[in-house]
Amino acid sequence: MESCADCGAEERGNMKVTVYNCRAFDEKALFEKYGKELGIELVLCPDAPDEENASLAQGSQCIDILTSRMPEELVAVFAGYGVKYITTRTIGYDHIDVKAAKRLGMTVANAPYGPCGVADYTVMLILMTIRKMKRIMERTNIQDYSLKGIQGKELKDLTVGVIGTGRIGRMVLQNLSGFGCKLLAYDLYENEEVKASGVPYVMLEEIWSQADVITLHAPLTDDNFHMINAETVSKMKDGVMIVNTARGALIDSEALISGIESGKIGGAGLDVVENEFGLYYYDHKSDILNNRELAVLRGFPNVTVSHHMAFYTDDCVNTVVRDSLMGCKYFVEGKENPWEV
Ligand code: NAI
Repeated sequence: MESCADCGAEERGNMKVTVYNCRAFDEKALFEKYGKELGIELVLCPDAPDEENASLAQGSQCIDILTSRMPEELVAVFAGYGVKYITTRTIGYDHIDVKAAKRLGMTVANAPYGPCGVADYTVMLILMTIRKMKRIMERTNIQDYSLKGIQGKELKDLTVGVIGTGRIGRMVLQNLSGFGCKLLAYDLYENEEVKASGVPYVMLEEIWSQADVITLHAPLTDDNFHMINAETVSKMKDGVMIVNTARGALIDSEALISGIESGKIGGAGLDVVENEFGLYYYDHKSDILNNRELAVLRGFPNVTVSHHMAFYTDDCVNTVVRDSLMGCKYFVEGKENPWEV
């Protein structure tokens, strides 16, 4: 991998931001463009932040990271180097120990991009799951043009339960409204726009008992860790299909595997899985990996797995790079910052 020294810091004014996990093939040029426009000096590091490369942040009030883990100990190392602001180029921020950062006097922010990329991808995973697309693609690749085992379902005949009706969940509901399926919503807080559209909010128990497809769009919190577990799976309809583009730990992988094995769960589309940290966004072709659940899930013919990339569109990449730097600028200039968490 390119060394941090090679990827180049540029002198662009007196404000400095150290960027970790900077991807040379898509983000670097955007960082350079927006760094110049905003008058920000950048240190671009291709690696995830760790105790060794934390020294790159010396003299930066702000660091800009991706979904690598930022536990208390690492946050403290950065605080020791004088970092006061951590921005993540993601919507979710459960990978950062926010409480520890706040205790250390630091501010944490995210950089939410538009919901369309993830919402489109969710609908694609729903369709792929109900139409058994993984099996179909595997067959065509080996010229197996048989039909047995790939009969699918139509959305108009199904009830879709959407858990979490924030920006992405609402866009998924909007996208699905054209398919003629019955829609149910669940959130801790009801949204007026959703209610006005005629989609009913129901209790979670009703989502479990009535939905043919369940799609997750809630952030991961202490309260909803493993919200899909052996007990909740047992309450679901036989053959239920589960799509997760939110966070892996919303689902207990063991319960999901058991549900698939028993046939209780008819299929899944997983853009995120538990314990994906350190795996995703790296080429591990030749490596022995220690995530057994991922290996098992990947192997099922009715489970489509992708590597946390629902966000990965031209629009989203541009927006996160721009807004993560804008947030740093607002912070340093003491202006109101819409992305603080
Ligand atoms: P948002 O903050 O706009 O909406 C989240 C919604 O979830 C809110 O309405 C909130 O009230 C609700 N919620 C919170 N806890 C809940 C619970 N226990 N049960 C039900 N609802 C609950 O967030 P947004 O932008 O819609 O993103 C949703 C999630 O999608 C993010 O937190 C992130 O984990 C995930 N995500 C995944 C991406 C990917 O590439 N796969 C990319 C972007 C986001």
